[in-house]
Amino acid sequence: MAKHKIGWLPGDGVGRDVMDAARIVLDKLGFDAEYYHGDIGWEYWCKEGNALPARTIEMLKQTDACLFGAITSKPREEAEKDLLRPLQGKGLVYQSPILQLRQEFNLHTNIRPCKSYPGNSLNYRDDINVVVFRESTECLYVGIEFHPVPPPVLQTLMEYHPKARRYHDMNPNDIAISTRILTKQRCEGIARSAFEFARRYGYRSVTAVEKPNVTRETSGMLFREARKMAKQFSDIDFYEANIDAMCMWLLKNPQHYSVILTSNLFGDILSKLCAQLVGGLGFGCSANIGEHYALFEPIHGSAPKYAGQYRVNPIGIILAAKMMLDYLDENEMANTLETAIAKVIRDGKVRTYDMGGVASTMDMAKAIAERI
Ligand code: IPM
Ligand code: MG
Repeated sequence: MAKHKIGWLPGDGVGRDVMDAARIVLDKLGFDAEYYHGDIGWEYWCKEGNALPARTIEMLKQTDACLFGAITSKPREEAEKDLLRPLQGKGLVYQSPILQLRQEFNLHTNIRPCKSYPGNSLNYRDDINVVVFRESTECLYVGIEFHPVPPPVLQTLMEYHPKARRYHDMNPNDIAISTRILTKQRCEGIARSAFEFARRYGYRSVTAVEKPNVTRETSGMLFREARKMAKQFSDIDFYEANIDAMCMWLLKNPQHYSVILTSNLFGDILSKLCAQLVGGLGFGCSANIGEHYALFEPIHGSAPKYAGQYRVNPIGIILAAKMMLDYLDENEMANTLETAIAKVIRDGKVRTYDMGGVASTMDMAKAIAERI
């Protein structure tokens, strides 16, 4: 029997291309795994009205971790039109499978390392090593939204909050509400993970990023828990920053930052900014970690226009595979893989189109495999 059971979720578009690339390097490493293919993505939305069929969730429950490619999503009206005829008009609503997976498996800790590998001409600077810790089950992502707003909801708000009274004579159709919820438990959890990570991997500081001058309650809770945690980790420097200022500082002096601790939506945005500092979409990777399960993915989307052309850079997913190896305690393999990636980037001979070269997805994967 293989040592590890891995859920294999290529999804849509170039998700499939890059998963093929990831497999080349995992095989070359001698990673002892059995792979379980999962149905997921646009095809299943169209055919079954569900981009994440229940059988896929059941299958994943039998595995130790999974690797995920990318998934297509479209605005509501277009999504409805793509459904098979018999499924149309039934009120089916497309839901992002990645968000469903984070909720279903309680993958609350999203880790996004953004490191500049020397020799990558796309680097903003060569000395960036930022890791974004993003809570990924709460905040504006809880999905508690109203439009139109049911009158009892509005009434209750007005009863409990004076600021809600300004809406008293408005038509419920003209108001939309999305709720941002943070819990003490999750704020403490993400703060602990960030500090533990900093200590374990020798990062100097943790910077908590929020907007406490506006979202006083939610941001306040995250900062409070972060401060408490900082006291337990006196070997790690602790800073607090406002999200807007942080965007400026990250562009100005990204080399000053190491671990960034933040909530879901700010983390979503900041992690894209940080990825661009170290090469952009082709280099971004992400780990979604819960108590009992973990999912690893590149940060790029399915890029339908490049689907099946094996053109896109697979380094993002290969870095995600490296994180998966670390999660599975295959640290030696993880290190070997990262060294191989760094060498190929430093050599600069094999470059995909985003890096100004002509190498294909598979050329890049093979070049990395050769260095293993
Ligand atoms: C990400 C993505 C997702 C998110 C989308 C696809 C829902 O942007 O993983 O960062 O917002 O979390
Ligand atoms: Mg995102």
